[in-house]
Amino acid sequence: MAATKPTRGQQVQQTILYPLDWLEERSGLVGGTKYFLFRKVPGDTNWFQTLGAATLTAFLVQAVTGVILAMYYKPDPQSAYSSIQYITNDLWAGWLVRGMHRWGASVFIILMFMHMGRVFLFGAYKYPRELNWIIGVLLLVSGLAEGSPVICSRGTRRRTGRRSSASTSTAPARSSAPSSRSSYKAARTSTVTRCRGSTRSTCSCSPGRSSR
Ligand code: HEM
Repeated sequence: MAATKPTRGQQVQQTILYPLDWLEERSGLVGGTKYFLFRKVPGDTNWFQTLGAATLTAFLVQAVTGVILAMYYKPDPQSAYSSIQYITNDLWAGWLVRGMHRWGASVFIILMFMHMGRVFLFGAYKYPRELNWIIGVLLLVSGLAEGSPVICSRGTRRRTGRRSSASTSTAPARSSAPSSRSSYKAARTSTVTRCRGSTRSTCSCSPGRSSR
């Protein structure tokens, strides 16, 4: 018996599916993705169980944006400030990467605590998940420690009013950093006065976007 000619619909279907079949035969990727997306999960699974994956995503965003920032950031007192200005104002999408890294840090910490809270409230730390909890505690400590250098450096900048030589600011240099509480207050007041007197685009107290 002669083979029937495929209809137009079947021909279109074959053309569309050909690349997918080709990929599936060689990698098994299509089957893997189908399994991942359509497998049956327990009926009592809910959105709170996605918090762990959300935390992981936030961590990966921090890692990727951090590596990009590290390519342009210059960690020495003379050029740190101007390198941040360069990233924010001149580098293509630099403001976006810096913003994602800045806000992502808080998002990561908040998600980590929400995930831990979910695990605690659901009793998901009990047998056989004790090791998950212990490793989670280690991740929590290292996650919090990750942010501490940034918090410290911000504190130092505020206390000393340190600016790079490339900056147009007239703020005291590191060598003339205020040593007592009263001189710290004076330095702060002068900074505030200077900022109030200038427009956002000319203010150099913080390396924000000049266009904002
Ligand atoms: C960097 C931080 C963390 C990441 C990326 C992370 C990631 C994950 C992921 C993807 C899961 C599986 C999905 C889920 O149940 O949500 C999970 C489960 C779990 N995590 Fe975390 N986690 C982190 C921090 C923590 C912390 C701080 C704790 C507790 C101290 C913790 C304890 C657990 C436990 C006990 C489970 C098993 C829950 C279950 O089987 O229902 N994790 N984590």
